[in-house]
Amino acid sequence: MAETKKILVAGGAGFIGSHVAQELEKRGHQVRVFDNFVGGKQNLECFGSGIEVVEGDCCKAKDCRKGVKGCDAVFHLAAHAAEGQSVFIPAFNAETNILGSIRMLSEAINEGISDFVFTSSIATYGKPEKVPIKETAPLNADDPYAITKKAFEDYLRVYHELGQITPYIVRFFNVYGPRQRMDDPYRGVVPIFINKCLKGENPVIFGDGLQKRAFTYISDVVEPICDIVGNKKLVNNPINIGTEEVHTVKELAEMTIEQMGVDLEVEFVSKRTSDVKVTYCDTSKAKELLGYQAKVSMEKGLEKTIVWAKGMGPQEFRYFDYTEIPKLTHGIYTSKKI
Ligand code: UD1
Repeated sequence: MAETKKILVAGGAGFIGSHVAQELEKRGHQVRVFDNFVGGKQNLECFGSGIEVVEGDCCKAKDCRKGVKGCDAVFHLAAHAAEGQSVFIPAFNAETNILGSIRMLSEAINEGISDFVFTSSIATYGKPEKVPIKETAPLNADDPYAITKKAFEDYLRVYHELGQITPYIVRFFNVYGPRQRMDDPYRGVVPIFINKCLKGENPVIFGDGLQKRAFTYISDVVEPICDIVGNKKLVNNPINIGTEEVHTVKELAEMTIEQMGVDLEVEFVSKRTSDVKVTYCDTSKAKELLGYQAKVSMEKGLEKTIVWAKGMGPQEFRYFDYTEIPKLTHGIYTSKKI
């Protein structure tokens, strides 16, 4: 993005959104953050006076209209990003991630906005036939969260074909780092393990811990996403963004315990419903088209995240008191033992 733009960051008070908003502002853009603050307002403290903040809900057309007014581009990061939880709250998930996204898209189109960046997910690939996953792999989304991400990619394609929008779709992996919520027991294994250690409790592993993920430090997704607008080769052309360094969840638990210097052990419980065993991506397309290279190792990223987390101190986990399909809720959540 060479010229200065007025950019709406939907979900801009969230973990990834707040970092994106700051990076865009640093690059000289006028930034408006739009959020319903369900994840709290704490990240707003990181913003300087250059960032405008608008309270609103993506599920309400009126709010979206207010959000997009006068903007040239939308970065849409507002979502309920909980894969494991989506199985027992599928309607809530679809309302936020599909309907909320469609409302934001419609109002962007009505405002005459062309550039629309969407953070999709590695989850859209489901259980991969082959790793590392290339963008050309089939999208076998196999949990409700993944379905929502895939569905909205399709909406963007349709409105692009109608000549209404210029979509840029990034498929992120397991992003972690400072500002990720530590009080959410359903998502983000990195902050969950760190919080467990801060609380002096054993980290809990779903299954045998041999699940593999490419845990990606926040700065390794924020910079490339801010580079994407204006890259003609990436219009309506989804791209994997993240590290190629892969670890098992067990390795992550052990690294966390060691780096935090606590005398704790890993506990194992039954596997999470529809948890993908091994999932990580090939990023050669990002390297070729964006000159992308992840820079932060797991060891270094974990170290930085732990420094931040220690500053925050231990957090109480906040459980959802709402479920649509109770029998699919993992017992560890009902017994509040994460
Ligand atoms: C994550 C992303 C999601 C993305 C998906 C792609 C986050 C918050 N979610 O989901 O947006 O679409 O990757 O695959 O980054 N685990 C434990 N113990 C815990 C918590 C988790 O063993 O206390 C395990 C899970 O069973 C899973 C792994 O750790 O196998 C990662 O879990 P999680 O961080 O929730 O991420 P994904 O489910 O991979």
